[in-house]
Amino acid sequence: MNNIDDLRIGLIPLATMAEGIVIQTQTSALCLKVNEGKVMCSYFGAKVADTSDMHNSSAAAFFCPSPWDAATGPHAVAISQPDGQLAFDPIYHSHQVTTPAADQQLLCIQLQDRRYPVSMRLYVLAHFDSNIFERWTEITHDGESPIVIRKAASATLRLRANRYFLSSFMGSWGGEASMREQEILPGNHFALGSNSTPKGAANGSPSFLLAIDRPAAEDSGEVILGSLAWSGKWEFSFVVAHNRNLDINLGYDPAYSAYTLDGGNSFTTPRMLLTHSLHGSGQASRNFHRWAREAGGVRTNGQPRDIVLNSWEGAYFKFDEALLHGMMDGCRQMGVELFVLDDGWFGNKYPRNDDKAGLGDWQVNKEKLPAGIGGLTRAAAERGIKFGIWVEPEMVNPKSELYETHPDWVIAMRDHPRREGRNQLVLDLGRTEVQDYIYGLMDELLADNPQIAYVKWDCNYTIVDPGSAGLAWDRQQNLQLDYINGYYALMTRIVQRHPGVIFQACGSGGGRADFGAMKYHHEFWTSDNTDPYDRVFIQWAHSYVFPAIAMGSHVTESPNHYSKRNTPLKFRFDVAMSGRLGLELQPQRLQPEEIAWTNQAVSEYKRIRPVVQFGDLYRLVSPYTHDLAALLYVLENNGKQQAVFLAYLKDHRLISEYGPVRLAGLDPAKRYTINEFNLELNQKPIVAETGRILGGDYLMARGLHIQWNWRALQSVAVEIVEA
Ligand code: DGJ
Repeated sequence: MNNIDDLRIGLIPLATMAEGIVIQTQTSALCLKVNEGKVMCSYFGAKVADTSDMHNSSAAAFFCPSPWDAATGPHAVAISQPDGQLAFDPIYHSHQVTTPAADQQLLCIQLQDRRYPVSMRLYVLAHFDSNIFERWTEITHDGESPIVIRKAASATLRLRANRYFLSSFMGSWGGEASMREQEILPGNHFALGSNSTPKGAANGSPSFLLAIDRPAAEDSGEVILGSLAWSGKWEFSFVVAHNRNLDINLGYDPAYSAYTLDGGNSFTTPRMLLTHSLHGSGQASRNFHRWAREAGGVRTNGQPRDIVLNSWEGAYFKFDEALLHGMMDGCRQMGVELFVLDDGWFGNKYPRNDDKAGLGDWQVNKEKLPAGIGGLTRAAAERGIKFGIWVEPEMVNPKSELYETHPDWVIAMRDHPRREGRNQLVLDLGRTEVQDYIYGLMDELLADNPQIAYVKWDCNYTIVDPGSAGLAWDRQQNLQLDYINGYYALMTRIVQRHPGVIFQACGSGGGRADFGAMKYHHEFWTSDNTDPYDRVFIQWAHSYVFPAIAMGSHVTESPNHYSKRNTPLKFRFDVAMSGRLGLELQPQRLQPEEIAWTNQAVSEYKRIRPVVQFGDLYRLVSPYTHDLAALLYVLENNGKQQAVFLAYLKDHRLISEYGPVRLAGLDPAKRYTINEFNLELNQKPIVAETGRILGGDYLMARGLHIQWNWRALQSVAVEIVEA
């Protein structure tokens, strides 16, 4: 192998490779080539029979290092060198393809700057079965004086087509992911992003769907679906030139994050996940779901998730032991498997009786809970249920003992007022002493109470004044990236030490619904908005990249505490059943018949949950374009013997008539029994085919006829099992 320094000082001629570097998955392919030292991408798309066809002449830079080369590709990286020049000109040095696992290929391309001792590695990890490509970049600085990385994308793409339709998943609190498709026209520069660290998904999921030449469809057409595994600020840009080339730049948001890198160190970008499908967005989503469940994208551990009852909307901050024991009694009566105590259980000098005080003081409040956490885990065990607990260790109320002791641990600007949100400030997780402190308190909580089976890890504020007392004046802009990497380092330690505990990621609702956090968590709290009407939309949008098992979805009281909307209990259940079902209410406020109905619905969910949590998702009718929403889960790994169909009539006009809903993904050769379940008390089935045995071919050709009554907010749940 050539010496990298010889390349730098020009002793080695710039490489040109006649042979392309080809990385393939089951259905997709990527082809790169090297031309006078530049790494070019000549193909990314559907797999083709003869790989030499992919070596076309219109290749674009795979990762374009200089804005002045932008004609050859989107500009991906900007580095200020110690001499002040904004210069980075990396040249191909070598590459390697390895096989880290049976269905994975890892490509690593090493490049070296022509002049400066700065090198770059471009990585592509291809997952054969799920067709997911993970792409990221590593920059290594071997010089002495620091360099400043002003921008470093995780991946760039150049596409050539006639038309581009971009779907985004932007949102806000209460409406975390909301889909919108727009055509991006020549001359358009389109940017998506979130300005929230450390809950990067709070303003929208870091994901996009790009449909080529025509609007996205579920079961046909070419699409690229992508998601950034990152919990901080992110930025995607899409630029269509007048010649219709589309340049896409994907990565963390570099604004306020010019990163100073000392000699001898490396900088790694977050991973960008990409999949390509010729069969519409449905297939692209199933690729993501398979990768998430089977390649560790989400910590699934292969087991179905328990049905939880979370105390938040049932008790908020107002509880004592008797009240919690009563809620646990309710869990037992309804067949719920795990009780989660949410906020409000800690703080003594400053009791956490509202959101104004106590955050940071993780000692159990002796007045509310004299028997401690141990008393609660024992009470849960006596009732045959598991116990879980809420924490928000990254944050602190100024009114807390922690803040009194360590006021310098928070993120704040020197000599500026500290701007609070929800009466709290963000602890500086970029600092190892803060990480160690949080690790210590979490380890103590979980080691002292080994019965804690579940942790809801919340995060309710954002960095607004990005200053760190732990960083030198000329390193302040490292804070936002150091924070997220510190959070990941902390989570790595905690989950390694307590591998059996289930972790939920929460960020004022869905602010941590990202694949960066999901590496350490089993699920995310989808939204504080638990109104089932709204949840149909939010969960639909999240289903593009996240599998149902990762989406915490709870049945709450009616009228809903936020929207004040009244909804039938059945509708609330049927919506929550399309994710990881849970409840979030005070069981003692339910009527005896509601308890009995809930008990029945919970036991139905236990039967169907392997299908929902591990099945393949087929989105059938979109709530964004119809009064109705319908989806189907098919359990692929038992030969499509079982499926679950859920449909929601959200809106209804008197004169509306609805045709049958055609199914998808079944085995056309199999015959299936149709069984509508979760019926309301004394309700007759409204799916006309209930009780019949029908072929998969018929169900996919004709579908199910639902005889909706004349009202909105109806739903059906149907089990479809091989006869
Ligand atoms: C915000 C979360 O999204 C809620 O579910 C709840 O846990 C509260 N925090 C508690 O303060």
